[in-house]
Amino acid sequence: MELKKIDNVIVGAGPGGYVCAIKMAQLGKKVLLIEKEKLGGVCLNVGCIPSKALINASKIVDKFKFASELGFSINYDEKIDMLKLQSWKNKMVNKLTSGIATLLKANKVEVIYGNAYFKDRNHLELTDNNLNKTLIEFENLVIATGSSPIEIPNFKFDEDKILSSTGGLNLSEVPEHIVIIGGGYIGMEIGTFLLKLGSKITIIEATSNILPTSDQELVSIVLRKLKRNKKANILTNTKAKDCIIKNNGVEITIINDKGIEEKVNADKVLVAVGRKPNTKDIGIENLGIELEKGFIKVNKKMQTNISNIYAIGDVVGGYMLAHKASKEGIIAAEVIAGGYKSEFDNYAMPSVIFTDPEIASVGLTEDEAIQKGYKIKVGRFPFAALGKSMAIGETEGFVKIIINEENNLVLGLHIVGYDASSLISEGALAIEMGATAEDMALTIHPHPTLPEAIMEAAEASFGKAIHIVN
Ligand code: NAI
Repeated sequence: MELKKIDNVIVGAGPGGYVCAIKMAQLGKKVLLIEKEKLGGVCLNVGCIPSKALINASKIVDKFKFASELGFSINYDEKIDMLKLQSWKNKMVNKLTSGIATLLKANKVEVIYGNAYFKDRNHLELTDNNLNKTLIEFENLVIATGSSPIEIPNFKFDEDKILSSTGGLNLSEVPEHIVIIGGGYIGMEIGTFLLKLGSKITIIEATSNILPTSDQELVSIVLRKLKRNKKANILTNTKAKDCIIKNNGVEITIINDKGIEEKVNADKVLVAVGRKPNTKDIGIENLGIELEKGFIKVNKKMQTNISNIYAIGDVVGGYMLAHKASKEGIIAAEVIAGGYKSEFDNYAMPSVIFTDPEIASVGLTEDEAIQKGYKIKVGRFPFAALGKSMAIGETEGFVKIIINEENNLVLGLHIVGYDASSLISEGALAIEMGATAEDMALTIHPHPTLPEAIMEAAEASFGKAIHIVN
């Protein structure tokens, strides 16, 4: 077997791995990036980007309805050529992946497509796509192999009737009725898009709330809107037991909130009950690194217990978010390059759920702040009181800001509403820079814009918002 020596190897080219590779190369290091499928990983190919493309496309349906309210003579008959939509989405994804290839090349990162199998703390066996094997000797290794959807008993993915998120984002037609097992991030996002395109959706959630890990005050706005839609059926405290595949669909047996079995018939089932780390079949046991519940254990420098082996992204657990993976990739690159005191902390880690309306959070929630012993003030401001929200017909939701009463520092910002995904960055910056409620309230925000709601929420935290009665 051919032997190839290289200083730094990164396995996995998702938003953790490829960002780490570019950063390392920028810092003057030689890097080999190994990827078994496509550059960009799950996020770019079958996750964040395609889902946002489809969710955004489905919002056009609302625009049609709004346009007719405004006097435009536009009718939408709720039929869409899914193949055309998918082909648009796929072209866009291909453009982005080729953009990453260009960036890697420009930064002189060597990329090899193939499967990596770890042999020991300095060697891996690479089987390329032509089945040629090479022994790679490395000084440093970054494992960025990501995660995959969890399967549940009796619902084996076939990506035809029983779908994972991958199948859910590649539908060739809009299902008449889809059962979604798991009312978390993926279930709610794919559910949102299919509902808008005309599907009936039944969400089966095991706990008592959809999006159970999010602030329920924000979730309630999404739930209220869903409940107004007759085609959305949300079943909480409910479990999916098993299913029978039929010619024209699937019969699912559920155990309802009273413990009674019921049958539900649908065209498709989407299973979105969480994701598991990709640590199987890669020789992880040959490295001697510590795992915790299947995830690779790392310190704040993204280093495992074996000092030349690092891990980043979903495979180390915590928030399974692309931007968290990228940040960890940058930290690993800086630590390996040397001369930096980089450490990862997730204090100002924003998260977004692309429901309707969107939910976005950064920093501590009210409950978390209280649990940590802070005395807090909370400022709230509804989008309905904002001129810009009225002008664009997007008045649902509110901004909530959590302030430390002792020193007025911003502890958290939580938004449910139109474009919350973009608005939340102001909160991330505020927390990162140690801003106070006054800093946010005294900053002049352009009028009329949605970020004015953040300024007003900050003013409301000390009882001085202008456009609501305090
Ligand atoms: P999730 O952890 O967000 O939600 C899973 C849901 O399934 C939970 O509500 C859980 O209570 C429920 N559940 C678990 N077992 C069940 C069962 N047997 N029957 C019924 N319900 C059950 O996981 P999801 O949606 O698969 O997403 C995985 C990860 O991907 C998330 O943790 C998130 O970090 C990431 N993601 C992030 C997105 C974003 O940033 N916008 C979008 C999509 C995914």
